[in-house]
Amino acid sequence: MARTLVFRLVALLASAPLAAEAGVVSITLPSDQGALKAGTGMEVTQRACQMCHSVDYITMQPRGGEAQWRGVVNKMIKVFGAPIGDEDARVIVEYLSREYGAGR
Ligand code: HEC
Repeated sequence: MARTLVFRLVALLASAPLAAEAGVVSITLPSDQGALKAGTGMEVTQRACQMCHSVDYITMQPRGGEAQWRGVVNKMIKVFGAPIGDEDARVIVEYLSREYGAGR
Protein backbone atom coordinates (compact mmCIF):
# COMPACT_ATOMS: atom_id res chain seq x y z
CA MET A 1 0.00 0.00 0.00
CA ALA A 2 2.75 2.43 0.98
CA ARG A 3 4.61 1.35 -2.13
CA THR A 4 1.65 2.32 -4.31
CA LEU A 5 1.48 5.73 -2.69
CA VAL A 6 5.16 6.39 -3.24
CA PHE A 7 4.87 5.29 -6.83
CA ARG A 8 1.93 7.61 -7.40
CA LEU A 9 3.79 10.55 -5.91
CA VAL A 10 6.86 9.87 -8.01
CA ALA A 11 4.74 9.58 -11.14
CA LEU A 12 3.01 12.83 -10.26
CA LEU A 13 6.29 14.68 -9.75
CA ALA A 14 7.81 13.25 -12.90
CA SER A 15 4.92 14.40 -15.06
CA ALA A 16 4.58 17.86 -13.51
CA PRO A 17 7.27 19.75 -15.50
CA LEU A 18 5.89 18.48 -18.81
CA ALA A 19 2.39 19.60 -18.02
CA ALA A 20 3.63 23.01 -16.83
CA GLU A 21 5.62 23.48 -20.04
CA ALA A 22 2.62 22.89 -22.21
CA GLY A 23 0.56 25.18 -20.01
CA VAL A 24 -2.06 22.47 -19.85
CA VAL A 25 -2.78 20.08 -17.08
CA SER A 26 -4.57 17.00 -18.21
CA ILE A 27 -5.48 13.92 -16.31
CA THR A 28 -6.65 10.61 -17.62
CA LEU A 29 -9.21 8.90 -15.52
CA PRO A 30 -9.75 5.17 -15.63
CA SER A 31 -12.86 4.43 -17.67
CA ASP A 32 -15.44 3.48 -15.13
CA GLN A 33 -13.80 2.01 -12.12
CA GLY A 34 -12.96 4.37 -9.34
CA ALA A 35 -15.33 7.10 -10.48
CA LEU A 36 -17.26 9.06 -7.91
CA LYS A 37 -21.00 9.56 -8.12
CA ALA A 38 -22.08 12.70 -9.91
CA GLY A 39 -23.31 15.52 -7.70
CA THR A 40 -22.48 18.97 -6.37
CA GLY A 41 -18.96 18.85 -4.96
CA MET A 42 -17.88 15.80 -6.94
CA GLU A 43 -15.18 17.62 -8.87
CA VAL A 44 -13.54 19.23 -5.88
CA THR A 45 -13.69 15.92 -4.01
CA GLN A 46 -12.07 14.12 -6.90
CA ARG A 47 -9.34 16.71 -7.21
CA ALA A 48 -8.60 16.90 -3.48
CA CYS A 49 -8.91 13.23 -2.61
CA GLN A 50 -7.24 11.62 -5.60
CA MET A 51 -3.96 13.39 -4.98
CA CYS A 52 -2.58 10.58 -2.86
CA HIS A 53 -4.74 7.54 -3.46
CA SER A 54 -7.55 6.32 -5.65
CA VAL A 55 -11.13 7.29 -4.89
CA ASP A 56 -11.74 3.59 -4.23
CA TYR A 57 -10.75 4.54 -0.69
CA ILE A 58 -13.97 6.53 -0.61
CA THR A 59 -16.27 4.20 -2.51
CA MET A 60 -15.19 1.14 -0.53
CA GLN A 61 -15.65 2.83 2.82
CA PRO A 62 -18.69 1.83 4.87
CA ARG A 63 -21.49 4.36 4.41
CA GLY A 64 -21.75 6.87 7.18
CA GLY A 65 -23.22 10.17 8.13
CA GLU A 66 -21.73 13.62 8.16
CA ALA A 67 -19.81 13.08 11.40
CA GLN A 68 -18.03 10.05 9.99
CA TRP A 69 -17.05 11.81 6.75
CA ARG A 70 -15.97 14.94 8.57
CA GLY A 71 -13.74 12.67 10.65
CA VAL A 72 -12.21 11.13 7.53
CA VAL A 73 -11.60 14.48 5.84
CA ASN A 74 -10.08 15.96 9.01
CA LYS A 75 -7.81 12.95 9.36
CA MET A 76 -6.57 13.35 5.77
CA ILE A 77 -5.78 17.00 6.47
CA LYS A 78 -4.34 16.75 9.97
CA VAL A 79 -2.63 13.35 9.92
CA PHE A 80 -1.60 13.01 6.29
CA GLY A 81 -1.20 16.69 5.42
CA ALA A 82 -3.77 16.89 2.62
CA PRO A 83 -3.71 20.48 1.32
CA ILE A 84 -7.43 21.15 1.53
CA GLY A 85 -8.82 24.54 2.58
CA ASP A 86 -11.77 25.03 4.95
CA GLU A 87 -14.23 25.88 2.20
CA ASP A 88 -13.27 22.88 0.06
CA ALA A 89 -13.37 20.62 3.13
CA ARG A 90 -16.92 21.81 3.86
CA VAL A 91 -18.06 21.12 0.28
CA ILE A 92 -16.37 17.70 0.33
CA VAL A 93 -17.96 16.64 3.63
CA GLU A 94 -21.34 17.77 2.29
CA TYR A 95 -20.86 15.82 -0.92
CA LEU A 96 -19.63 12.65 0.81
CA SER A 97 -22.37 12.54 3.41
CA ARG A 98 -24.97 13.13 0.70
CA GLU A 99 -23.71 10.68 -1.93
CA TYR A 100 -22.01 8.15 0.36
CA GLY A 101 -24.15 8.64 3.43
CA ALA A 102 -25.86 5.98 5.49
CA GLY A 103 -28.25 3.97 3.36
CA ARG A 104 -26.70 4.98 0.00
C1 HEC B 1 -1.89 13.98 1.41
C2 HEC B 1 -2.31 12.69 0.92
C3 HEC B 1 -3.79 12.35 1.03
C4 HEC B 1 -4.85 13.06 0.55
C5 HEC B 1 -4.85 14.36 -0.24
C6 HEC B 1 -6.04 12.31 0.91
N1 HEC B 1 -5.69 11.16 1.56
FE1 HEC B 1 -6.95 9.67 2.20
N2 HEC B 1 -5.36 8.60 2.85
C7 HEC B 1 -4.05 9.00 2.81
C8 HEC B 1 -3.22 7.99 3.43
C9 HEC B 1 -1.71 8.04 3.59
C10 HEC B 1 -4.10 6.96 3.85
C11 HEC B 1 -3.75 5.67 4.54
C12 HEC B 1 -3.33 4.70 3.46
C13 HEC B 1 -3.10 3.34 3.98
O1 HEC B 1 -3.57 3.02 5.07
O2 HEC B 1 -2.46 2.60 3.26
C14 HEC B 1 -5.44 7.37 3.45
C15 HEC B 1 -6.57 6.61 3.66
C16 HEC B 1 -7.87 7.00 3.37
C17 HEC B 1 -9.06 6.24 3.67
C18 HEC B 1 -9.10 4.85 4.28
C19 HEC B 1 -9.52 4.88 5.72
C20 HEC B 1 -8.54 5.53 6.63
O3 HEC B 1 -8.98 6.37 7.43
O4 HEC B 1 -7.34 5.23 6.57
C21 HEC B 1 -10.12 6.99 3.27
C22 HEC B 1 -11.60 6.66 3.40
C23 HEC B 1 -9.58 8.22 2.71
N3 HEC B 1 -8.22 8.19 2.78
C24 HEC B 1 -10.35 9.25 2.20
C25 HEC B 1 -9.85 10.44 1.71
C26 HEC B 1 -10.68 11.55 1.29
C27 HEC B 1 -12.20 11.59 1.37
C28 HEC B 1 -9.83 12.52 0.85
C29 HEC B 1 -10.20 13.91 0.34
C30 HEC B 1 -10.85 14.75 1.33
C31 HEC B 1 -8.46 12.02 1.00
N4 HEC B 1 -8.53 10.76 1.53
C32 HEC B 1 -7.32 12.71 0.62
C33 HEC B 1 -3.56 10.16 2.25
C34 HEC B 1 -4.32 11.15 1.67
